[in-house]
Amino acid sequence: MSKAKFITFEGVDGAGKSTHLEWFSNTLRQHGIDILVTREPGGTPLGEQLREILLNHPMHPETEALLMFAARREHVEQVIRPALQRGTWVISDRFTDASMAYQGGGRGVSLSKLEQLEHWVHPDLQPDLTLLFDIPIEIARQRLDNNISLDRFEKEQGTFFEKVRQAYLARSQKTPARFAVIHAEKTRDEVQANLQRIVLSLI
Ligand code: TYD
Repeated sequence: MSKAKFITFEGVDGAGKSTHLEWFSNTLRQHGIDILVTREPGGTPLGEQLREILLNHPMHPETEALLMFAARREHVEQVIRPALQRGTWVISDRFTDASMAYQGGGRGVSLSKLEQLEHWVHPDLQPDLTLLFDIPIEIARQRLDNNISLDRFEKEQGTFFEKVRQAYLARSQKTPARFAVIHAEKTRDEVQANLQRIVLSLI
């Protein structure tokens, strides 16, 4: 049996990541692969409580970063590692790249501090593959405008998201072999055709 894979989905809010994640995981399941879909912040009972706080309560940017990594520590321990060890693939809606992009790029928390947290929380675990849904910020914002209940991050200005986008791209350039950058402004069918190729390369 080939090794279970850890795959993460990333991108600015409004890139369409969640819709594509559902399609992608269903497609892998149709190929007989055992998959666990999870998300961050969240994925464990404590993580979901931290998510509620993170998405709704204002706080210092470093507190935000620490809570993201606290939730992640539980997630890695209780969900991600056990699944991979029993041969189940894990698809996570966001992981540490989101902290680099949102807390680092968006909020301005120092990347070296975030890298220390990354090293602390998961020194020997990285996604096998990260799908980065990249999209011009004006288009992502238009998509979010149709959404009536925006969380604390989604209510941020375009300039914040521009910094998040650039930080994601910079992170993808540091370890390009781990990333597939998806042009998420294309039609759903075009994006799915791209994802289909990725599925075929994985199975
Ligand atoms: P998101 O996947 O957008 O949830 P939903 O689709 O339900 O709105 O994630 C929630 C927010 O959390 C998102 O705006 C990005 C933010 N976030 C961070 O700022 N840092 C992190 O490390 C993670 C995992 C998420």
